[in-house]
Amino acid sequence: MEIKKGLHVGIILDGNGRWATQQGKERLEGHAEGVRALLGLIKTCPENRVQTLSVFAFAIANWKRDKSEVDGIWILFLQFLTTHLKGLIDDGVRFKLIGDRSGLPDAVLAASEDAERRSVSNSGTLLQIALNYDGVDEVARMVKNALQNDISPDDVTAQYVQSHLDTEAGNEPDIIIRTGMPEASGGMSQWRGSAFLPLQSVQSVCVSTEVLWPNFTVDHLQKIIAYADPSSRLFGGQRTKV
Ligand code: IPE
Ligand code: MG
Repeated sequence: MEIKKGLHVGIILDGNGRWATQQGKERLEGHAEGVRALLGLIKTCPENRVQTLSVFAFAIANWKRDKSEVDGIWILFLQFLTTHLKGLIDDGVRFKLIGDRSGLPDAVLAASEDAERRSVSNSGTLLQIALNYDGVDEVARMVKNALQNDISPDDVTAQYVQSHLDTEAGNEPDIIIRTGMPEASGGMSQWRGSAFLPLQSVQSVCVSTEVLWPNFTVDHLQKIIAYADPSSRLFGGQRTKV
């Protein structure tokens, strides 16, 4: 039986602010708790067959927030990149930044690219963090790049598109999770993709959960994998040929 090498799980982190409000804390404390949740989850990827973890941490649309919140978020990322990520990289994590790099604060870009360089040959979990990202902007950058490079219209194929996005071709998410969504009601549940990996997720199973991101644990991840990826139940079993 062929066992799939690993899963690619994408997560749209949502609910940090509501978590903070529930706790009577400032919104930034919710974001700090969100970073802790992410750190906890990354470490559990290998034991859960997650080979790639992609997280939507800062959308281009998030610039609309109060300056104090945006500045605080960048400080948290910088701390994450310069302190916590070091240990993860020593443990074999490979780091990749996705999004429009030209719009990032200089220090965040420098720390991210340094982490990419240092981890490029690591073979552990691939951690992709989307900063200053929007999937429509990603397509606009790709088209601009093609025009600047005089790509012939004949060369613009589905394969060309897939291999000129911010992500690596052939490594599209199996599952996309959005936290902090309203509870299902009347047999209906909501989904909002917020332009996270739109072209890469055409075949992904999308799962929403009401759990706020700071409360999201490995137990939630395992339940979602069991729910959304039937192949995870085949260990020790037999796959009928399809
Ligand atoms: C998501 O949590 C984190 C970022 C976008 C950086 P929110 O900040 O959107 O949390 P809510 O939606 O206000 O609860
Ligand atoms: Mg939100």
